[in-house]
Amino acid sequence: MKENGKWSSGFGFIMASAGSAIGLGNLWKFPYVASANGGGVFLLVYVIFALAIGVPVLLAELAIGRYGGKNAVDSCKAIHPAWGFAGGFGIICSVLILSFYSVVGGWVMKFFSKCITEGLPSPEYFGEYSSRTAEPILWQTAFAVICGLIVVMGISAGIEKASKILLPALLIFLAGVMIYTLTLPGAEEGVKFFLVPKALGEIPLSKVILSAMGQMFFSLSLGMGTLITYGSYLPKSSRLVPSAYTIVIIDTLIAVTAGLVMIPAVFSFGMDLKAGPGMIFSTLPAVFARIKGGRILGAIMFLLIFIAAVTSAISLIEAVASFLIYRLKISRKAAVAVTLGMVILLGVPASLSFGVLSDVSIWGMNIFDFIAFAADNVIMPLGAIFICILVGRIWGMKNAAEEISNGGRLKFKGRKLLGAILNYAAPAVILIVTVGAFR
Ligand code: PHE
Repeated sequence: MKENGKWSSGFGFIMASAGSAIGLGNLWKFPYVASANGGGVFLLVYVIFALAIGVPVLLAELAIGRYGGKNAVDSCKAIHPAWGFAGGFGIICSVLILSFYSVVGGWVMKFFSKCITEGLPSPEYFGEYSSRTAEPILWQTAFAVICGLIVVMGISAGIEKASKILLPALLIFLAGVMIYTLTLPGAEEGVKFFLVPKALGEIPLSKVILSAMGQMFFSLSLGMGTLITYGSYLPKSSRLVPSAYTIVIIDTLIAVTAGLVMIPAVFSFGMDLKAGPGMIFSTLPAVFARIKGGRILGAIMFLLIFIAAVTSAISLIEAVASFLIYRLKISRKAAVAVTLGMVILLGVPASLSFGVLSDVSIWGMNIFDFIAFAADNVIMPLGAIFICILVGRIWGMKNAAEEISNGGRLKFKGRKLLGAILNYAAPAVILIVTVGAFR
């Protein structure tokens, strides 16, 4: 069996990891979740969580991966032979996330092609399109296959190369679009709503806190084994602490930028901010339809969302494929094919749950929402709790600090604080989110 290989540079690793973090969570979910949760207050809570819990958990995952040097399950096992299951949650959850991620990725591709060939879709188009049977499945499969092909090319020649091109392009274009939408008349109100915390009105603070925590875990790709896997391709001399900060900061900046693109634009035309998941598919095209050059802007936006989705989906595929390669002793190509097979098998019913299978309900949710709920609100938080316990208690902070400081060669002053967060604060907070999600 061939080695998986390593990142060719520190920059490449950061681009790939930030690419994993920046995804549909930032561009599709963040603007509507922030809008539904009071705007400025949500942002404030989100940033506090990202720094206080996001950075430490991310650091713990990178440390496990670099120490173990293998996929998520076997890296956890390298720390304690009985603890492979902590990484196992991530592998299962990656398949689940991929199955609904590819449905949304397929929608994004369709909307991009529609902007190019016919023009901006009408606000009603999304509901009509997503309920079709065959076409969304074809686009969804196309999305999954494109991502799979990148992963087949390997770590440095596939994932790293693609991320090094795609992520900077995404950052530059998104900044350009933001400058454009911020100059729309009436945008200021939206900027104020999004950036300035103010009284919440009838939204309960507990709901804002729960939503911010859930969003933070999803957006930073935490508890999923993805960052363990990416950490396993790091050379021993890499610096984990600055990497963790950089990834969190870039991811948060992009979420804020996405909010600054969409919320003021929606405000400036007095449209409904409560559109929920349909925001980018129905409200945004309606906003763009009233702007000069809106069709091009629409095409660019969908292209950017597509890019963000690809760089995240490849990290999820890699998390699963690296496990299959090691355990089943199969080639990278075969491992990716098996992964995609599982993803399509689950993803097709998820897509159909907007149409022919819309009557199927599991615990009051359609299939798509159920898979997303099981992944985001149950398996991912459980995985994250076990990762905290594994590092904080089983490995112990002395050993973890040894890894993080590269065997004492780098200064690492945060050992006590990191221990307190991994042992107490993070598991408590995650438990609250999980339990809260069931209420
Ligand atoms: N962080 C990605 C996003 O924001 C989603 C993701 C979750 C990717 C978990 C990998 C692992 O869309």
